Amino acid sequence: MDKLVFATNNKHKITEVAPLLPSHLKLLSLADIQCFEEIEEPHNTLIDNAFEKARFVYNRYKYNCFADDTGLEIDALDGRPGVFSARYAGENCSFEDNVKKVLQEMQGKSLRSARFKTVIALIIDGKEYSFEGAVEGEIIDHKSGKEGFGYDPIFKPIAYTETFAEISLEEKNKISHRGLATKKLIAFLNTLV
Ligand code: IMP
Repeated sequence: MDKLVFATNNKHKITEVAPLLPSHLKLLSLADIQCFEEIEEPHNTLIDNAFEKARFVYNRYKYNCFADDTGLEIDALDGRPGVFSARYAGENCSFEDNVKKVLQEMQGKSLRSARFKTVIALIIDGKEYSFEGAVEGEIIDHKSGKEGFGYDPIFKPIAYTETFAEISLEEKNKISHRGLATKKLIAFLNTLV
């Protein structure tokens, strides 16, 4: 196997994952395979949504592929936005809108603990596998930093003084939900060669 599709339209995710994969493997985006369709995320769990995206691409485009689904679970909000992280402030909302909504809902809350969780769904020659990663941290009360994307400016990983938006991509990949899930994916891919 020399090619693998990452079934996402999120350029930030491709930027994060590409440098982690072994060099013999060419990572293709949805644009690379001419897939410009909107892929639904209709389920209530990260794993079901991740497989929805991976199966969509595998079945229609016949490429070995993987997809990730990520959620931010905030304890003071009973686990929200969770699986609804992408559209927390409504359909077609921006990262900015979502962050604003979380900051508003977290105003005055002393319980700040939260975690990012990622599930990666992989399909190789019709066989399905999944890998998970999580990182604990807290939601700060304002935005800080310009790196990363999504909720990064308000998420401070445990034992760090900076948010994910204030550290480098390399540093984020070492400890992040997606970095950890991707390392498991890579360890598995290495058993196939
Ligand atoms: P998705 O459904 O996996 O694309 O992720 C849901 C939403 O979670 C995204 O739209 C982002 O707002 C947010 N998200 C996913 N991964 C990250 C991350 O690494 N940092 C910050 N926010 C993220």
